[in-house]
Amino acid sequence: QKEERERLYRLNAFAAEFYKKILWQTKTGEKAVAYLEARGITRATAEKFGLGYAPPQWRALVGLFRKKGVPLDEAEKAGLVCGGAEGYYDRFRDRLLFPITDPRGRVIGFGGRILGEGQPKYLNSPETVLYQKSRSLYGLAEAREGIRRQGRVIIVEGYMDVIQAHQHGIDEVVASSGTALTPEQVRLLKRYSDKVFIAYDADAAGEAATIRGLDLLAAAGAEVRVVRLPAGEDPDSLLKKEGAAGFRRYVAESVDLFTFKLAYILEKADLATPTGKAQAVQRVFPLLTQMQNEIAREAYLKQTAAAVGVSEASIYDQWRIYKYNLRKNKQRLDIKNNQRHTNDIAPARRRQPDALAGEKELLPLERE
Ligand code: GTP
Ligand code: MN
Ligand code: MN
Ligand code: MN
Ligand code: MN
Repeated sequence: QKEERERLYRLNAFAAEFYKKILWQTKTGEKAVAYLEARGITRATAEKFGLGYAPPQWRALVGLFRKKGVPLDEAEKAGLVCGGAEGYYDRFRDRLLFPITDPRGRVIGFGGRILGEGQPKYLNSPETVLYQKSRSLYGLAEAREGIRRQGRVIIVEGYMDVIQAHQHGIDEVVASSGTALTPEQVRLLKRYSDKVFIAYDADAAGEAATIRGLDLLAAAGAEVRVVRLPAGEDPDSLLKKEGAAGFRRYVAESVDLFTFKLAYILEKADLATPTGKAQAVQRVFPLLTQMQNEIAREAYLKQTAAAVGVSEASIYDQWRIYKYNLRKNKQRLDIKNNQRHTNDIAPARRRQPDALAGEKELLPLERE
């Protein structure tokens, strides 16, 4: 098993060398070099990330493996060739290749971008013994030092975002590669830093992925912040427009989890009407219940009042009612559960609402 992994590592390393050679040393590679240039990636940056180019032929790598006596079923296990014994052919053809590595920098797979328009835009290695998409973070090997130095990690969507960031001297950047962050990726990230900035694309897909990622990171105990880019931009495009200083400014103006979700709720609310305001406030309250710190909660209540455009007094009143109802509902549930499961202790439980005697002043408000 260990031997198999070693052999697959060697095949990936061999393929990466082959694709590099095609990119930089052949006539075939010239159009990929031109593509990199058009995207503003320097040769130094491309080399730092080991980029390569898969030629358009169906059997360039297959032919080389045959000549070297490499068993093609093994190359298939490495995700480099497809087709089985019926007829092997190269998985990657006519694509710019981004080697995906483990945190130590050993190649475990590839992401391949089409040069220009077309579908799929990116073709990745299949799941293999070495490469599991949900467990890998693109660029981690190159970012490890930067993450340690900066004491934080910035997570972006794509390969190009990572590379462009490094080229601009922002080197604490890794990509979740399209997928919304997975629990395994979170666990891996947390080994390097507890302070995580999400800088996903400013589009609907990026926003949805941000929300899912945020909750995972927060649940794992990371300190999360969201970098909000101008609509339609991703880190790559923004860096080209506004440079490193511009991107850093957006990072500096990042918002915490609550502020991000508040903005999201308010975007979808109709703050022009009283009912719209009330509904928005009701949607914010669940975010506050999870908060352990009373001082933080007070600050967020104030922030909500200001953002929605209501007085602090009325938002505090409403919050007390919300909390009271929450507790009451929970007790109703407890009583029901107890009746169902343990009839004998149910009467004792039923008396519990008396324990709320001290909060009786809340009762009249509840009827509102
Ligand atoms: P560029 O157009 O090259 O700048 O790509 P991008 O990184 O901005 O693309 P996008 O924001 O659409 O996607 C972000 C990341 O998701 C990519 O870097 C890929 O890792 C992944 N991705 C995007 N499109 C595809 C696809 O068609 N197939 C697969 N498997 N992954 C994709
Ligand atoms: Mn896309
Ligand atoms: Mn995107
Ligand atoms: Mn993008
Ligand atoms: Mn992009």
